[in-house]
Amino acid sequence: MILRELIYPGELHVLPEDISLTFDRMPLEIWFDEYQFEVDYDIGESGTKFLTVKELDIDLNNVELRYGYHVGHPSLRKEIAKLYGGNNLDNVAVTTGASEANFAIIAHLVGPKDHIIVEHPTYPSLYQVARSLGRDLTLFKLDWDNEFRPDMDKLRKLVKSNTKLISLTHPNNPTGSVITEAEIREAIEIAEDAGAYLMLDETYRNLMFDTPPPLAASMSPNAISLTSMSKTWGLPGIRIGWAVADRPIIEAIIAVREQITICNSAIGEAIAKEVLHKKDEVLAIIMKAVRTNFKIVKDWMDSQDWLEWIEPKSGVIGAPRLRKGGSTDELCELLVTKYRTFTVPGSRMEMDGYFRLGFGGEQEELVKGLEQLGKALKEIHS
Ligand SMILES: Cc1ncc(COP(=O)(O)O)c(C=O)c1O
Repeated sequence: MILRELIYPGELHVLPEDISLTFDRMPLEIWFDEYQFEVDYDIGESGTKFLTVKELDIDLNNVELRYGYHVGHPSLRKEIAKLYGGNNLDNVAVTTGASEANFAIIAHLVGPKDHIIVEHPTYPSLYQVARSLGRDLTLFKLDWDNEFRPDMDKLRKLVKSNTKLISLTHPNNPTGSVITEAEIREAIEIAEDAGAYLMLDETYRNLMFDTPPPLAASMSPNAISLTSMSKTWGLPGIRIGWAVADRPIIEAIIAVREQITICNSAIGEAIAKEVLHKKDEVLAIIMKAVRTNFKIVKDWMDSQDWLEWIEPKSGVIGAPRLRKGGSTDELCELLVTKYRTFTVPGSRMEMDGYFRLGFGGEQEELVKGLEQLGKALKEIHS
């Protein structure tokens, strides 16, 4: 029986059968929800090893479980502002993950008659929000042939007179490609020429193998930095992210979030503040594990006859493809069902033919997961 019949049994004003939702579920998230909890080896997650409250060793006993400052607790915003040199507290909004900030920024900046450019591939909600709201969206494609690097000449050609936002993600999910300081400057210039903003999703910036470029928001008032505690810090469960931006954008974020989440989780904010406070110490441990895992996955990939990839330049994910070509759906489905190993088929991120391989988790799990992947590859090639 469909839900509406349970709610309105026999009533005349039952909703029509064909009612369509403005927001569709994202295929990537459906895949996660369905399989990630059911496997033994997770080599599809896009962050570092999930931390436990015990591992964090933070005393949360005195955290008051009240509503918080709508823009984020000042002590947490202070820790964040420290990372952004020239910016002050007024330019920081702490949100329920980077996802909420992304939603608020698009909702505010891109009106019904406006145009938005979002780099692809990326984490799907970065473009799906624009689609759900019915906005004019152009995907700025990263190509294998250009090693998934952003081509600024190509970007310039996509701009229209009504472009209001250009959204890039580097280090990129899922290709691990990076952006240089010169490229960020060029992207800001392209946005400024169009009277638009550049938003750079810097969620993976702390996982750069080399020195990262400056934070976008510190380069121009037309640049927005978006980031999260979810990936680098292994803390997606605290649901904390933030945007650093020009004040009108911060105010818009507060306005949107007051209608969805009101404020952040008090526990989440307390944990984020403590982790950022000792960030260098924590990051050193994380990066040591990431470098070891990257070597494991790189050596494994180098020995594969059936797979190829553009080696990720940073971060904890890469996007291999089958040398023989074709969809990776069969491989990823076989992996979760028979080999109890989680990866993400590219079709869930609108890049069929690839799959997402994550190497940010436990070393032992990565090694076992790759072994399982090897078995599944053998099976689909036999
Ligand atoms: C590049 C990128 N940005 C943003 C997000 C959203 O993360 P959250 O809302 O957990 O901060 C993700 C999640 O996968 C991501 O990969």
